[in-house]
Amino acid sequence: MKTFYVTTPIYYANSLPHLGHLYTMIVADAIARQKRQQGIETFFLTGTDEHGINIERAAKRNHRTPQEQSDYVVSYFKQMTAAFGLDTAHGGYDIFMRTTETFHYEGVSELWRRVARAKTPKGRDALYKGHYEGWFCAACAAYKTEDEYVKPASPDEPPTCLVHETKLDRISEESYFFRLSDYDEALLGLYEVRPDFVQPDARRNEVRSFVRGGLQDLSVSRLKSSVSWGVPVPDDPNHTMYVWFDALTNYITAIGFGNERQERAIGFEKFWPALHIVGKDILRFHAVYWPAFLMAAGVEQPRAIVAHGMWLDRTGRKMSKTLGNTIELDVLSRHFSVDAIRYFCLREMVFGQDGRFGYEHLIDRTNSDLASGLGNLSSRTLTMIQRYCEGRVPSGNISEEGRLLAKRAGVDTDEASISGFVAHARDEFIRYFSNFGFSRALEEAWGIVARVDKMISDAKPWDLAKDPALRQTLNAVLYRAAETLRWLSVMLYPVMPNATREIHSQLGLTEDLSKIDPATLTWGGLPDGTQIGDVKGLFPRMDKTKTMDEIKGSSPTVREGSGEHAADAVPGADATVSEARPSGRAPLATDADALPVKNETGDGLIEITDFARIDLRVGEVRSAERIPKADKLLLLTVDIGEEKPRQILAGIAQYYAPEQLVGRKIVVVANLKPRKLRGHESQGMLLAASVGEEGKPVIATFAEDVPNGARLK
Ligand code: MSP
Repeated sequence: MKTFYVTTPIYYANSLPHLGHLYTMIVADAIARQKRQQGIETFFLTGTDEHGINIERAAKRNHRTPQEQSDYVVSYFKQMTAAFGLDTAHGGYDIFMRTTETFHYEGVSELWRRVARAKTPKGRDALYKGHYEGWFCAACAAYKTEDEYVKPASPDEPPTCLVHETKLDRISEESYFFRLSDYDEALLGLYEVRPDFVQPDARRNEVRSFVRGGLQDLSVSRLKSSVSWGVPVPDDPNHTMYVWFDALTNYITAIGFGNERQERAIGFEKFWPALHIVGKDILRFHAVYWPAFLMAAGVEQPRAIVAHGMWLDRTGRKMSKTLGNTIELDVLSRHFSVDAIRYFCLREMVFGQDGRFGYEHLIDRTNSDLASGLGNLSSRTLTMIQRYCEGRVPSGNISEEGRLLAKRAGVDTDEASISGFVAHARDEFIRYFSNFGFSRALEEAWGIVARVDKMISDAKPWDLAKDPALRQTLNAVLYRAAETLRWLSVMLYPVMPNATREIHSQLGLTEDLSKIDPATLTWGGLPDGTQIGDVKGLFPRMDKTKTMDEIKGSSPTVREGSGEHAADAVPGADATVSEARPSGRAPLATDADALPVKNETGDGLIEITDFARIDLRVGEVRSAERIPKADKLLLLTVDIGEEKPRQILAGIAQYYAPEQLVGRKIVVVANLKPRKLRGHESQGMLLAASVGEEGKPVIATFAEDVPNGARLK
């Protein structure tokens, strides 16, 4: 049996996923579903990249161990993938890969050993020990050359990363180097012999000119004393592996390279090589470093590396947590159906190019293409079958006499023109889709919707129904519309698994859409006499003004089941929300590299009315005590000028003794939903600055005397 293996990048476990991450998963998921429809045994990987200084720092800021940090983010990822129907239970990924798995340590150590034994194409050792001196961006997990950073105004300041706009770290230490500079010709040869290796073409050209420009050897380890959270270098425990060496290798360790466990369960030989779907931001790692590592280790190259563009905010900046301009997933999922989001992502972003995201646009597409387009075609067709044919799919056959009568009534009964049109568009759809032209593929499908809509409007079944002599004509029109819907449901299943299943079952069909190859569809496959199911609307029309108001008024909230905020609860720039978490950890507010300003329209700014939704009050700490078995939590009672003092739990016990706090005037978020933490209700939270790398909380207070309950605005 043919096999196919598709991967997304594995996401950093330092912060919560946003639209950009979701997009890569949707693309890979749609590809995997199409392959499965074709009867190909498909393996789909996604997961998290859990090592390195970035995760170590995020963990410190959140008062977690790196493992706890990763576990926390992974549990959110899993909730999110389930909510968006991307997990195994919904026919999505087959493995959620984590680089902290023991089997991964085994596999990546094996790859390292192989590289360490290898000679380069120029006959030198592929790996050697040297000294690294230069700048490193923790957020990119990459060393930066001069053209990749902004020089500081003063020589005492570090440069700033061009991508993340964050300060770089100076590194000067012993390091293992991979002799990348010896692989230029081999890589150029690979791109030459396999023109599809890097796609689309524009990206291939970029990669080629990067390699032609000359490659520098790559530092592939850090001293354990600088970065301890990583895979130890085999036989040299003073070093940990460079996080990209470790992360890229996940693609092969996940399926069994260098470890028995996964080999038995999945099979490296069976599934490798993979198709890697990546953002263009990480193309170099995948299209240059990864192939070179594999060449050194003597492992077959990936099937292809396909790079998509970036979702940008309205000002044209890449959407990222670090820049604080992301579209949050729980806001998206609260207002839009999964299928509408999937459709929009694949239709709107011309694959490979960047796209700007706007909620208005998503609403417009939902209304025009889904509610008025596909949804309307489906409901009008099925409603007419219900009304005129007693709920059974009529026969599409039309006799010579029927044809004459139809002609006289001015109705086109040439079945071949419809079936030919649909079949041609189906072929084009498959062709575009298989070449990652999702947007063009969907245009083809919507060409079918328009064509059949026109057929119905021209034939006017409601008039035909009035004349018994035109019964066959009416039946033929409705049959063709219903048969087209069947085709569309099969074709569009990888894009909209839920709505297409709904259409299929409303047509009265019971086959599993995930197993029907659209290429095998033949016209007339819908049996006449089929009893159709209940007719339900697929895509309710959205009220744009109302939805936009709701979106503007909403912020990411508590995820069901986690008991924690999905993302940062409160917009702000300097103050950090120092709210206690069920685990006693610091809030997720500090998970990102910078505290993001929530903005639902994507330009990074909020309205004054957004800020006004937060009720900030002056409070006086009346009492403070530790909570048994929760070494990070303090239980405070705080007078905020109400009849009864508020009980507030704060994750500050490691930094403040209870007695330091009594009598202190603090700032309290007074309109936060109460929550139970360790059996105690927390009725608000206090604000604190997050200081230094470890995010030490420093409680916000007042230099002058202020009355309890005074509002901050
Ligand atoms: N951990 C590395 C990848 C290691 S793969 C062996 C990493 N992680 S990431 O979380 O920062 O981002 C991973 C991917 O998320 C990006 O390559 C891209 O596919 C996707 N996106 C993140 N932001 C995005 C946008 N604004 N737009 C589209 N996709 C984006 O890099």
